[in-house]
Amino acid sequence: MMSSLLQKLLLGVPLACLASGALTESLDSNYKIDVHSHVVPSVWKEELISAGYPVKDGVLYTDGFPVADWTLDSHISTMDSLGINYSTISVSAPGVFFLKEAQKAKSLARSVNTLLHNYTQTHPTRLGALCLLPLPYVDEAVEELEFCLDTLGFVGVGLFTNANGTYLGDSALDPIFSALKTRNASVFVHPASPDCTSVALGHPIPMTEYPFDTVRAIENLLLTGQRAQYPDIKMIFAHGGGAIPFLATRIAGMSSLPSLGGLLVPESMAQLAGYYFDTAASTSAIQLAALKSFVGAGQILTGSDYPYVPLSQAQPALSAIEGNGDFTTAEMGQINNQNALAVFPRIIDALNLN
Ligand SMILES: *[C@@H]1O[C@H](CO)[C@@H](O)[C@H](O)[C@H]1NC(C)=O
Ligand SMILES: *[C@@H]1O[C@H](CO)[C@@H](O)[C@H](O)[C@H]1NC(C)=O
Ligand SMILES: *[C@@H]1O[C@H](CO)[C@@H](O)[C@H](O)[C@H]1NC(C)=O
Ligand SMILES: *[C@@H]1O[C@H](CO)[C@@H](O)[C@H](O)[C@H]1NC(C)=O
Repeated sequence: MMSSLLQKLLLGVPLACLASGALTESLDSNYKIDVHSHVVPSVWKEELISAGYPVKDGVLYTDGFPVADWTLDSHISTMDSLGINYSTISVSAPGVFFLKEAQKAKSLARSVNTLLHNYTQTHPTRLGALCLLPLPYVDEAVEELEFCLDTLGFVGVGLFTNANGTYLGDSALDPIFSALKTRNASVFVHPASPDCTSVALGHPIPMTEYPFDTVRAIENLLLTGQRAQYPDIKMIFAHGGGAIPFLATRIAGMSSLPSLGGLLVPESMAQLAGYYFDTAASTSAIQLAALKSFVGAGQILTGSDYPYVPLSQAQPALSAIEGNGDFTTAEMGQINNQNALAVFPRIIDALNLN
């Protein structure tokens, strides 16, 4: 008798669909994988302070926003309070690109990645790590990517929309995408501050400049052709893609101008909607309606942004997703776990779901 798995293979069903189909039965739709949570190791905080990031009343600020207190234990206990079963952990902006020398950036990235590995080894069924790359130093970043994925077995890679002005889409980053492609590895993209911070008019940069920087990176990936060159690398953009669900049609429309390369509107739209987006700070009915109509539940992932978003705000935000998005139980299963498993299949091994 031909197994249904074999039948599906013969019918050419993509592997990602097989994986999520098979997992539907083993994971409850409420099993939550949070793809957007951060760690704040003290070694990283100390380097930020030495580099001149301001400390006011004992609180460190990056991009005008307070950096929350964090410990590994509080991370796990917050996951328990939020009903989050598994989290991918990464370091938020400014990563290590505030360091002026390649060797310093490389060495801090290595220290942080070693800690991330320790955290995931301590909690192997709760935490998976996303590699911190010492960009904009590309050679060092490729080396670190290889170390994280090939030696430490990280589930994926973290990138920023820009690293000190080098944006996704810049051909300087081709070696990173090439290394990702060779490994079928996926990335989580967190926004960073744009170079010209004066555009924030003195207000905290994360408020609007982070979402705009996400749009800027996605637009640059389209206009430089880098995404077209590496179309299969699965990429998650944070915070519902910033403003991209709203601006995609405008960007695709203008990109059809002959002076911008005359890209075909439907192809540009397909590319712009060809990413995954997390729910961090994107759980209102307006935002979820936009995301749902832009990409559908198959490309939306649960994200909390803990600890930058504290427990008190993350809790109501996560509970609002189902109602505000008017999602079915099956769609919640996709958003809570199946999409994350399709993007980061190494989590399947970590959870012993094979
Ligand atoms: C996932 O987390 C929920 C809430 O903490 C818990 O009730 C459930 O047992 C967990 N599921 C698994 C498979 O660990
Ligand atoms: C960032 O790039 C600018 C040039 O655009 C350079 O002057 C500055 O030193 C760089 N900063 C760091 C931290 O590398
Ligand atoms: C993580 O680091 C701590 C402190 O250095 C150490 O005690 C612990 O054994 C490490 N855990 C693992 C799993 O490597
Ligand atoms: C990447 O995926 C392709 C197609 O799914 C597969 O043929 C290939 O072996 C994979 N490569 C690695 C390094 O996992």
